[in-house]
Amino acid sequence: MKRPQIKTALPGPLAKKLIKLDKSFVSPSYTRVYPLVADKGKGLWIHDVDGNIFLDFTSGIAVNATGHCHPKVVKAIQTQAGRLLHMSGTDFYYTPQILLAEKLASLAPGRGAKRVYFGNSGAEAVEAAFKLARWHTKRELNIAFFGAFHGRTMGALSLTASKTVQKKHYNPLVPGITHIPYAYCYRCAYNLTYPKCGLYCVQWVEDTLFRTTVPAEEVAAIFVEPIQGEGGYIVPPPEFHKELNKIAQKYGILYVADEVQSGMGRTGKMFAMEHFGVTADIIALAKGIASGLPLGAMIATAKIMNWEAGSHASTFGGNPLSCQAAMATIQLLENNLMKNATRQGQRLISGLLELQKTYECMGDVRGIGLMAAVELVKDRETKKPATDWRSRIIKKTFEKGLLLLGCGENSIRFSPSLTVTAGEVDVCLSIFEEAVKEVAG
Ligand SMILES: Cc1ncc(COP(=O)(O)O)c(C=O)c1O
Repeated sequence: MKRPQIKTALPGPLAKKLIKLDKSFVSPSYTRVYPLVADKGKGLWIHDVDGNIFLDFTSGIAVNATGHCHPKVVKAIQTQAGRLLHMSGTDFYYTPQILLAEKLASLAPGRGAKRVYFGNSGAEAVEAAFKLARWHTKRELNIAFFGAFHGRTMGALSLTASKTVQKKHYNPLVPGITHIPYAYCYRCAYNLTYPKCGLYCVQWVEDTLFRTTVPAEEVAAIFVEPIQGEGGYIVPPPEFHKELNKIAQKYGILYVADEVQSGMGRTGKMFAMEHFGVTADIIALAKGIASGLPLGAMIATAKIMNWEAGSHASTFGGNPLSCQAAMATIQLLENNLMKNATRQGQRLISGLLELQKTYECMGDVRGIGLMAAVELVKDRETKKPATDWRSRIIKKTFEKGLLLLGCGENSIRFSPSLTVTAGEVDVCLSIFEEAVKEVAG
């Protein structure tokens, strides 16, 4: 089995030079946790500018759904690039945007006609959902969750409640948003235990929130990630969304599923919400949708997406290249990759669970499909977050040629491309184990 090849000290000489240049000219707001300077990629393998070869279990933050530079995606982009680069779908029509909208509408769960709005990113998809929810309901309030990440534009940032650094000095943000605890059962906000809790976190919304501070009939939408992503790859209990959605429906509140990270087949189903048996009123998509080209999409029923011409648009949204990349991506997902996500996800998660038996620091192993994480703790009894170990393990795996990213305060996420093979999963697990043993074994 192919393994990473690290031939230089990291960063290598060329990477060092580029990082120095980057420091002079690129915004210092970015959060690079290790010095990878990527040059080219194929499948799950990334070559850096010094010729080192890494196994990528980040897929560019869950974006390269079909692997780096899948030939069918590249071909679709190349063909489109020779025909039409841009015309702006806001003011004109072109085929790729129309056909992609038709495809996404047909994929979205639930009965009734659907419509699709196109932007360029996850934040834009969420921003559009935020505006549509207000426009459609004419209500001013919204509910979101602690730990949620919905993006960094001012509206999306107002819904985000992930890290204060993301909000510091940006207040005042959009008013009228109440954040509530997510169903993070490993660290329940109410100190209860599932299933004995009877889903108290959901009941609390109706019994306390709606009775004391937030009039339900003024709430436009509940924004929720089916599986919380940046917050720690947190999988809620099976009935969580169903019960919360029931409350939403009772009060005419829209249920907005932010599938930016969890969607597009990553969990083995096209939309992660399908695992929970809930049909969201609005879906926000981005990341994996176009295998790396910038694209965001917001899907809603035609009944909800009934805003008037001029009420929202974006010059570049639904760019022809991105739409073609998305069509090629979806075809690959439907052909085999979603099945592979289920298969390899099971291999990955059971491999991690096996390691958990040996390593005390692996407090929680969770995930669905290829959206998996390990939460690191100082000891299992106190569950004290091992944030320092998390960072050191990620640095170590990088030095050994495996690319991983953190999420939450003390978790490591595994979000490889859906093309990942059993052999690549095994290489990942063996390098991860070496690093865990060296740091916290
Ligand atoms: C669930 C979720 N929503 C929205 C976003 C924002 O996406 P973008 O960075 O493309 O704006 C992210 C990004 O990590 C995300 O994970």
